[in-house]
Amino acid sequence: MTESATTSPIPWDELRTAAINATDNSYAPYSNFHVGAAGVTTDGRIVTGCNVENASYGLTLCAECSLVSDLARTGGGLLKAVVVVSGAGDPCSPCGRCRQLLLEHGGPDCLVDGDGTVRTVAELLPGGFGPDRIDEG
Ligand code: THU
Repeated sequence: MTESATTSPIPWDELRTAAINATDNSYAPYSNFHVGAAGVTTDGRIVTGCNVENASYGLTLCAECSLVSDLARTGGGLLKAVVVVSGAGDPCSPCGRCRQLLLEHGGPDCLVDGDGTVRTVAELLPGGFGPDRIDEG
């Protein structure tokens, strides 16, 4: 990780554009609710994801899940900020499961624009069960 990437401003506009573009690849024939997510890592990489639904509805992968997979695929690390949007380009609030995913891969200080207001993961998931809780056991 480079110091400049860690301290550089969040490229919110680039993230919003990348998230909107990711909705083009969304597979959502059941809900017809297309979701895209984009994040920037602490070392300055942009990663993206889209929702991928399944005929067995409960197996649907959210856009944030796909984003976390892209994070791992491209070298891992920590998310610094994430934007989630619907196909209409409107902000999309991360579901509970995805808040847990973002806690694991972004930590409590990761910034999330999911409903038009930027909040930390800690605000979205107060008292969340993160990796540090395992160490306490
Ligand atoms: N969805 C996401 O991709 N992320 C969320 O955080 C909320 C919901 C998707 C899952 C499903 O394909 C569609 O939105 C409707 O629930």
